[in-house]
Formats: sequence, C-alpha cells, structure tokens
Amino acid sequence: MENELRAEITLSSPDVPAALIDELLPKLAGDALGKALGTRGEGRLIRHELHGDKLTLEIASTGGRPHQPLLSVVRKLGEELGRRAKVGVRSVTVLRYRLTFAVEPMPTKPVPLAIPHHLSFADGRATLELLDLPEEALRDNWPDRAATLVEEKARRQSYAGKEQAWELIEQSPKREHAGRDDPTEAMLKRNWVRSGPTKGKWFLGPLPAHLLRTMERIAREEVLAPLGFLEVMQPHHDSFDILVKTGHLEGLPGEFYYVTEPKSRDPADWERFTDLVAITRKVPHDELAKLVSPPSAVACYAQCPTIYWWLSGRTLAVDDLPLKVYDRAAISNRYESGGRHGLERVDEFHRIEPVYLGTPEQLVALREALLARYRHVFETILELEWRTAWVTPFYLQQSGGVGLEEPGQRIRGTIDFEAYLPYRGPRETAEWLEFQNLSIVGEKYTRAFTIRAQKGELWSGCSGIGLERWLTAFLAQKGLNADDWPDRFRKYVGELPKDVKFL
Ligand code: SER
Ligand code: ZN
Repeated sequence: MENELRAEITLSSPDVPAALIDELLPKLAGDALGKALGTRGEGRLIRHELHGDKLTLEIASTGGRPHQPLLSVVRKLGEELGRRAKVGVRSVTVLRYRLTFAVEPMPTKPVPLAIPHHLSFADGRATLELLDLPEEALRDNWPDRAATLVEEKARRQSYAGKEQAWELIEQSPKREHAGRDDPTEAMLKRNWVRSGPTKGKWFLGPLPAHLLRTMERIAREEVLAPLGFLEVMQPHHDSFDILVKTGHLEGLPGEFYYVTEPKSRDPADWERFTDLVAITRKVPHDELAKLVSPPSAVACYAQCPTIYWWLSGRTLAVDDLPLKVYDRAAISNRYESGGRHGLERVDEFHRIEPVYLGTPEQLVALREALLARYRHVFETILELEWRTAWVTPFYLQQSGGVGLEEPGQRIRGTIDFEAYLPYRGPRETAEWLEFQNLSIVGEKYTRAFTIRAQKGELWSGCSGIGLERWLTAFLAQKGLNADDWPDRFRKYVGELPKDVKFL
C-alpha cells in the first residue's frame, strides 16, 4: 500500500542554484529510501520544485512509511548545501501526508481524530491524509501512531455493546451461608462504618478497620511471605509520564482523581481567598480555581504502573528472577460515578498489589503457586464460596477492549476470583463479586518501561488483592456475628475491638 507525502523545506537563503538541488535531491532521496525500505518495498521522489527559499518535494513509498527517510534527506541536504553553497536548512513541514493501511473490521460510524486530517475508508482500507505536520511530529512518529489509533478506534467500534469475556475455570463447593444481608447496609445499621465526607469513600470504625487489617495480614502471611514476595513502598501520586507509557491515560482519563498544586505558597497571594473564607464561611471556588495549577499528576489508580517506573531502564540479574514485590502503601482512587455501591464499589480502596517479573515459564509457574495460595486462603481460612474465570485482561479493558488473549493457550491474560453474595439472590442468576484478580501481562509493560533481563525474554504480571472486596465477600457470606465465622479466621482476628457506642 502506497504512502505519499508532500513536504516543504525552508532554506536559510533563496540564493541556491536550482541545478545543485536537481543534482543532489534525487540521489539523497534514492539513498535514504533504499536504506530505510531495504527489500521490504520501494520508494521514489515524485517531483521537487524550488521557489525562492522554499523547496517542496513529494515522495512516495510502499512497504514502509517515507517520513523517516525524509528526515534523513533533510539532514544530508543541509550538510551538502552548507558545504557547497553556504546555505542551511531552517525547517521542514509536511503539508500533506497520505497513508493507506488495512483496517479490520471496517468502522460503521465516523472515526474522529484530534489532529488536522481527512479520513476515508473503502475496500478494507483506510486512507488517512494528515495535514501540516511539523518536524517534531515526524521525529516522534505521529503518523504511525495516528494510523494505529485509527485502526484501534475502528476495532473499538466493533467491541461497543459486546459483553466482556468470561470463561469459567474452577468453582468451589457450595456452602451454607449465615450471611443474608448486604454487608454495607448491615455495617451502617450497627454504625461500624459511615459514608465518607467526600464522594465514594468510607470511614471505617475500629471494628471493620481491624477486620480489613486482618485480611491484609492473612494475604501477607498466607500468600505473599510463603512465596517470597518482598514489600516495597511507592508514592501515592502517579505521574502523567507513567500513565502515558502504560496506556491508562488514553484508556481511562475519565476515571482518575487529578492532583493539582497551589501556584504559590505565599500567604499574600492567598489573601483574597482567605478573606472570603473568613467572611463567608464558604469555599470561594472561582478564586480557588485561579490559585491552583492545572493537574500535574493523578492519585494512584493501580500500583503496578509506578512499580514498573521504579524498574524502568534497569537490567535485572538472572539470580533475582522471578522478581517478586508488592506494594500496600498507595491507596487506589477511581472515579466511579454511577458505579458506586456500598463498600464493594468505592472511589477509594485499599489494595495489596503483588508484581512479578521473570521468564514466561517462571511466571506461569508462579501463577500456579499464587492460585494455590489464594485457594488455600479462600477455602481453609475464610471458607468462602468462590469461583475463578478467565476475563478480559485488565490491560485491554483499561484501554477500552474486550475479549481474551490467545484463546486455548491461556498464557497471558487475567483470571478473576468471584464470590457469591447471598443477598443478591440465587447463586445461579445473581451477579457475583470480583474480589481478586491475577494477570500475566507478557512484554507490554517491560517493553514500555525498558526493563530487561540479564538474558532472555522478560515478562511481567500483577495481582490485585482488594481488601474491601475480601471483607465484603466475607461478611456477605458469613454475616457480622463473630460466632458464625470460621475458627481459623477468628484466630487471625484475635480479640475484636469494642464497638464505639453512639448515644
Ligand atoms: N493492575 C491490576 C488492575 O488494575 C491489578 O490490580 O486490575
Ligand atoms: Zn497491576
């Protein structure tokens, strides 16, 4: 499929002999295209024209795109003109760049794109014409990324309205449940928890706080410590750079809590604001908006991105593989909007996130080991009724995708643990609660963050241990009365803190 561009080069002076350009350009273009395309395709200089200090040229290629060769033509032309005519190259702009590429499936609705362009589709192909691309856009490969984005948007249209993937793996035995009620409602009734001072957040009193920390201890002592996971501590804010690399920023910009900074910490700059607070006892929002910067980061959404940042650019010794670490310091924040429900779907939750890096074989073995430890906790300590399923991998879902990885092979992908919640109705028809996941991601993040192994392929994966989810799954099945709780769990709990009495 042919790609074609028309570029305008601005020279430092109009005093260039046209004959010199005629001599240089075909050769430089031929060399650059030949070198870039090799045997994959062909390229040609269609025409060129010189008007004063403006040199326009058109090049076309198949088997590879012509913008990188163009940059090399511009660089070499600058060198030659400097040497032979004391003239330099000021700038280069691509006025129009037509890319053709296959699109499968074809979109059924318009595909918008946020940079100047024309776009059309026919016969399984897209023709994308990008307009007015500055040099930076060429160096930075915007054309390739724009084409990939068009393909991706066409694919997303075909997902829209489709169910998320779900394929049962394993199911625990059925159990009798002492719990009948929605655990959040039950905890509210007993004043164990209070709906938080800001949206989607909860205040846990001493009793549920103790239970949540007990869940955390069980996860650390029964799952992570036996498998040799080491604790790390990460900051609570995620940088935009990190989320660009993982794909979260293009996948979920509407689900972050954004962090802003004061423009100044000088009280004098804030005086109008503080006067208004003192006099009105209200927040002067308009004034505040003027005093804070645009968002510079987001509150932690998931912990693995910043763990990958920690390892970025590093090479891991074979002896350290698989590397197994976990974070429990950062609290996850998600803007849930309509999706909030009780303590199981909140805007702020406590999670332990184990992250692992190693060869594909090491990670598959580790997944089996983790699954076995999780099973042990859910079966013999919490005595839950649970099941596991292959689901749409979180790294596809968080960029708007559906579907499973490599059906049949099941190497990369996400497994969810789900718990039956009796208050939602019969187990066969009710929606179960995802309370735990486990993924093998492949090379997606090790590549994005340039993390290497001393030798061989380096894959990564992560698992989300959502403590509020563990707690709600448990209380939904076992109820709030400690007498109904399994012995091994009660041993972990020890003495329960006394309830605070509200009169
Ligand atoms: N990073 C994974 C997720 O967001 C595991 O927590 O689901
Ligand atoms: Zn993760």
